[in-house]
Amino acid sequence: MRTPERTFPADFTFGVATSAYQVEGGIENDWAEWERAGRLKEPHARCGRAVDHWSRYEEDYRLATAVGATAFRISLEWARIEPERGRFDEAALEGYRERLLKMKAHGLTPVVTLHHFTHPTWFHRETPWHQPESVEVFRRYSRRCAALLEGLDARVITFNEPMVLLLGGYLQGAIPPGIADGALTMKALENLVRAHVVARREVGEKLGRVETGISQNMLAFAPDRWWNPLDRALVRLGGQAYNHAFHEALSTGKLRVNMPGVATARMDIPEARDSAEFVGVNYYSRAHLRFVPRPPFIEFKYRDTQGRGLTDIGWEDWPEGFLQTLRDVKRYGKPVWITENGIDDRSGTRRPQYLHTHLAQVLAARAEGVDVQGYLYWSLLDNFEWLEGWGPRFGLYHVDFDTLERRPTPACDYFRQVATGRKLVAPL
Ligand code: FCB
Repeated sequence: MRTPERTFPADFTFGVATSAYQVEGGIENDWAEWERAGRLKEPHARCGRAVDHWSRYEEDYRLATAVGATAFRISLEWARIEPERGRFDEAALEGYRERLLKMKAHGLTPVVTLHHFTHPTWFHRETPWHQPESVEVFRRYSRRCAALLEGLDARVITFNEPMVLLLGGYLQGAIPPGIADGALTMKALENLVRAHVVARREVGEKLGRVETGISQNMLAFAPDRWWNPLDRALVRLGGQAYNHAFHEALSTGKLRVNMPGVATARMDIPEARDSAEFVGVNYYSRAHLRFVPRPPFIEFKYRDTQGRGLTDIGWEDWPEGFLQTLRDVKRYGKPVWITENGIDDRSGTRRPQYLHTHLAQVLAARAEGVDVQGYLYWSLLDNFEWLEGWGPRFGLYHVDFDTLERRPTPACDYFRQVATGRKLVAPL
């Protein structure tokens, strides 16, 4: 019998992930408006200064290298860069350039997301995703972003979790822009695919060959009632739409969503064919799907099937689904990057074990021939978690939200041991 691979090769990248709005602080965008409208779970919560990464970035680069990271994922905040439509803020662009150069000087390869959920406040009013002008507007923004990356050897992620943005913002109306309309969701989906294509082109024109892709939130799905054909159909159709439709469009140029009564799309976008150099996977958990006889026909739940206990945010700890997810993306025939994986663990005691079991699945996938090249832990620091506000703690480093002091959690030692030793050992 073949012994499973226990080591990561020297060219496998270990890094950490963040996003602008969640860590930088002082950003005025559609999420800030959403907060003021009282739309978070805790209506008075505000992101505000976040964890002040905008001023503490050098300290944060040091924290990343201290755990053995050699890559650092950030996002660029569109609202800082283009506060009014067509007016680009040179100081903001310069600020990002300076930060990226420093990052590089710390030995960290930048992984740069152009769009991580947030928009300038004018965007939804003037050129929302369901209108075709959105594509041109994003192209122009991407051109300015590409100029920032000259000489940095960065990896580029155009969109973070486009299906989460669409599901939350266009189908459920729970996040900005707060629309709940299946037809508009599909128009927006098409434009996001087109926007990825033009952004990648801009990046390529400016910088030559750059590894460009998207980060996709990928869930393992299971029927809530294993014997129920409708629950099983939901798993098949929902899994295809949520996990694969976007990746597939960037691979084949065919956009296919088939969720009867919710949203459907069937169109060819030939320019999207073969438009990503890697497949970005954000994996956290598994969801059980149950058919309900009223729109939107789907009930979505996390269940503690193994007695491991749900995570603090209420998600199932399901490393087994990580391997399945990685097997599933082998079909795209591209290198795979884990652009996010992590656990909300407020005590800090479960995280080493979570890392161990999930990294074991990465090794298992590699042993099966899935070309996983990098793993970015979400997140370096505790930060502002969207609708959940300040409750969850995903950080390798604990942040005191009053003093903003960063303190290592037990997972820091473990992460460093694996990232530098390259061997997957069990945590103590
Ligand atoms: C992902 C998001 C990221 C963070 C984690 C917990 O869906 O991309 O910003 O909120 O979940």
